[in-house]
Amino acid sequence: MAYLKPDRPEKIYVPALRKAKKKGEKLTCLTAYDYPTARIVDEAGADLILVGDSIGNVIQGYGNTIPVTLDEILLATKAVKRGSSRALIISDMPYGSYHISEDETVRNALNLMKNGEAEAVKLEGGKNRIKLVKRLVDEEIPVVAHIGLTPQSVHKLGGYRVQGKTTTTAQRLIEDAQSLEEAGAFAIVLELVPREVAEIITDKLKISTIGIGAGVGCDIQVVVLHDLIGMTFGRLPRFVRKYADIREVMSDAIGKWMEDVKSGDYPNEKESYGLPEKVDLESLK
Ligand code: KIV
Repeated sequence: MAYLKPDRPEKIYVPALRKAKKKGEKLTCLTAYDYPTARIVDEAGADLILVGDSIGNVIQGYGNTIPVTLDEILLATKAVKRGSSRALIISDMPYGSYHISEDETVRNALNLMKNGEAEAVKLEGGKNRIKLVKRLVDEEIPVVAHIGLTPQSVHKLGGYRVQGKTTTTAQRLIEDAQSLEEAGAFAIVLELVPREVAEIITDKLKISTIGIGAGVGCDIQVVVLHDLIGMTFGRLPRFVRKYADIREVMSDAIGKWMEDVKSGDYPNEKESYGLPEKVDLESLK
């Protein structure tokens, strides 16, 4: 049997994460939900792209991730996949898509892998998800776990707060991370976790930690792209460093275009089409 070599030698696959961790090389992950942003993020060299259920907040304008459906993540994953060639594509399993039964979870994850061409799925939760993670990994589905602040539990938690601030809760997070590693997850998102706890988890695990609001010690950093480029509304969490103000850039461009339209400067001759000279214009009047 002949094995085909990957056609894109630079493409990031799951094993690259373990190698990077061993070498102490930091990796980067950004969210994307559509073709143009995926293309920009991939061409800029981000190693991982997360088709996050933050699409609910960022794109759909919901206050949280609860309403996001599997079909919406599937559609976004397809577009992101078309826009990227190097980054590892991870799709979020939205609220409700892994809560009913193991079989339904597998069916939904396979849908994202087969029809969306996701290369891994992410789901939220600690020890309560161990059986599910094992089952998915048994079915050849690479899994990223997500602990600390788990936004799909916003109603249970009563808001978005730093998790693991006491000895007991920090210990629970450490145990959750170790159990998820044993269950076969290849990476774990640590969201809103004290940096000391994130460092302990990162040191204890062979798999990669993906930090968001979890300090500099994590193996991989992830942020929501729209936060980083100034495309979100409202107060930003303290871990967000805004590198651009795309809202301002867009507003300026729109304002200038409207001025030009109103003054009659747009569109000019070069920006429109004329009749060929041979056409008798007078006859048309
Ligand atoms: O949906 C998302 O964007 C996420 C990140 C915040 C990790 O889960």
